[in-house]
Amino acid sequence: MEKAGIDAGGTLVKVAYEENDRSIRYVKLTSDPLESVAAWIRNELPEAQLCLTGGRASRLLNLLGRPAVFVSEFEATCEGARRLLEQGGKQWDRFLLTNVGTGTSIHIVSREGAARVGGTGVGGGTILGLSRLLAGTGDFGSIVKVAQAGRRDATDLKVSHIYEGAVPPIDGNLTASNFGRVEETIRRSAGLEESAVFPAEDVLASVIGMVGETVATVSVHAAGQHAAQVIVYIGSSFEWNGPLQEAVASYTRFRGAEPYFAPNGAFSGALGALLALTPHSRCSDPRYNE
Ligand SMILES: Nc1ncnc2c1ncn2[C@@H]1O[C@H](COP(=O)(O)OP(=O)(O)OP(=O)(O)O)[C@@H](O)[C@H]1O
Ligand SMILES: [Mg+2]
Repeated sequence: MEKAGIDAGGTLVKVAYEENDRSIRYVKLTSDPLESVAAWIRNELPEAQLCLTGGRASRLLNLLGRPAVFVSEFEATCEGARRLLEQGGKQWDRFLLTNVGTGTSIHIVSREGAARVGGTGVGGGTILGLSRLLAGTGDFGSIVKVAQAGRRDATDLKVSHIYEGAVPPIDGNLTASNFGRVEETIRRSAGLEESAVFPAEDVLASVIGMVGETVATVSVHAAGQHAAQVIVYIGSSFEWNGPLQEAVASYTRFRGAEPYFAPNGAFSGALGALLALTPHSRCSDPRYNE
């Protein structure tokens, strides 16, 4: 019988299912409306045995009206990420796992098990929300495309801007204050329209920069606390998102940790749920959660 793991997140539903030849297919759908997701599952996976995870899993179950196994979101995500890394030939005894979904969740994963060690409300939802409010753009693909052409100079205050001419005590290229240069830029550009001084591409580049720097800052602190050298970043927020990857990677490296963006990382939870349907999966091992 066909098997499918479904991670119903706050923004996107990720599906991992086995084809007849046992290869795994990945599909992404928007979580809203969840009724359409249930219809898709009924049509595409009518016979499949299902394992659900994610914040919207129980609502989806009600809509589906057919039996399914549940697995916790954190267990599924860590187990799926571990498997994706293995498949990609990456194996670390201990690593930090940062999932930048709608919000951001941070886990320590080792041979002994996995545990959630922190998070922040700054995540992919922040990119969507602030981009809509500040630039009127709500579509993720457009946000990233526009941001790619942006510069952060007019909006973000660097350490070197504050120290101006003097030798700063830390790297002058670091951001001293995200969006902290706006007032100064307005003063300097006397009389010009704000929309001309702050074009959408610059504002969106700064939004993504702020999210990336926040996520990386929280992650490197957690990595230090939990003795992890490698930080594996997953979540749909990174997909096709060069500016976010760049912001996260450069700050992570600057702080001495090693960033890794797992291919298909957004499907970690869905894959973990699929694995939970397979006998001997670590997800069903009670030692798995610390
Ligand atoms: N097609 C898309 N539509 C909307 N957002 C997208 C899309 N592709 C990438 N994103 C980004 O990915 C984020 C969602 O990531 P992800 O799918 O990992 O989260 P989630 O599982 O839905 O949320 P959570 O785990 O916090 O409940 C969005 O907030 C947005 O920034
Ligand atoms: Mg998620």
